[in-house]
Amino acid sequence: EPEIIRNKEQMRNWTRSMRAQGKTIGLVPTMGYLHQGHLSLIAEARKHAQLIVVSIYVNPGQFSANEDLSTYPSDFQGDIEKLQSTPDGVDVVFNPYNLYDYGEERERSGGKKREKDEGVVSCLEDERGGGFGHETWIRVEGLEKGMCGKSRPVFFRGVATVVAKLFNIIEPDVAVFGKKDYQQWRIIQRMVRDLDFAVKVIGCEMIRDKDGLAMSSRNVYLSPQEREQALSISRSLLEAKKGGRNICSELRRSVIESIKAAGGKIDYVEIVDQESLEAINDEEITSGGGGGIVICVAAWFGKVRLIDNMEIDVL
Ligand code: PAJ
Repeated sequence: EPEIIRNKEQMRNWTRSMRAQGKTIGLVPTMGYLHQGHLSLIAEARKHAQLIVVSIYVNPGQFSANEDLSTYPSDFQGDIEKLQSTPDGVDVVFNPYNLYDYGEERERSGGKKREKDEGVVSCLEDERGGGFGHETWIRVEGLEKGMCGKSRPVFFRGVATVVAKLFNIIEPDVAVFGKKDYQQWRIIQRMVRDLDFAVKVIGCEMIRDKDGLAMSSRNVYLSPQEREQALSISRSLLEAKKGGRNICSELRRSVIESIKAAGGKIDYVEIVDQESLEAINDEEITSGGGGGIVICVAAWFGKVRLIDNMEIDVL
């Protein structure tokens, strides 16, 4: 039975008292609507820390005005039930109302329905954090330039900033992220290194559904037909991986063509170095830097934007 904490100060007090007892703390940041991918991060966190905090917070700071903040799926009660039944156990669920509200913490009774839009949405309506006067943002300048950062200009500054806030509030020893969001994981790693956060960042392998679709909270919005079409992403990535020795530009083209043929609309398909995320163009994959490459995809199926990726290690 996880303890639910909604207030920053209580959260920090909890950590400090646990640390005083010599406990180590692992954090799994999420936006809720939990699935097996999230639960696998919890299992990994358990290996590295004695106590586990899962944060559930749909961060308005990483959505721009035309994105799906207001329709982002949520089911807090369902999430709690999933966390209760996970064998790995969770000690605290941190579910703040609005992390950008620096006025009085709003006291919200546990049973009250979350009013998602009020205050939270306005947070983003202007560049400076709505009425709350938030104006400090972390930018990981190089890594955030391409791919999702290009299509979603304020996304990574919002992610980096909220993760930094969570690190400061929760003060975890380790924090676990999924490689499903490959660029996000690399950005957080770099932020932690560059700003000397005392947190160890762990990256976890992506979890897929049986048919290969990368698990995502947003999959719930795919129609059965769109879901079938979306399988073209993982299929084409797997094929690219099996193909092995191809030229990057050909690999890229074949992924693009398969997704388009299935009815998807490409946002980007990039073949990049696993660490620098710099594009590897027209080189033999077998000469790709030494550290391996990753094919990253973002594509639309109807109104749903999906991302996926496949690491290809090069010896
Ligand atoms: P969210 O999309 O809820 O994802 C939370 C964590 O779960 C991220 O680290 C993500 O990479 C991981 N995850 C999602 N799907 C996964 C899958 N199929 N396999 C493995 N891991 C998966 O990512 C965010 O939230 C937010 O940007 C956040 C980091 C919480 C900041 O607001």
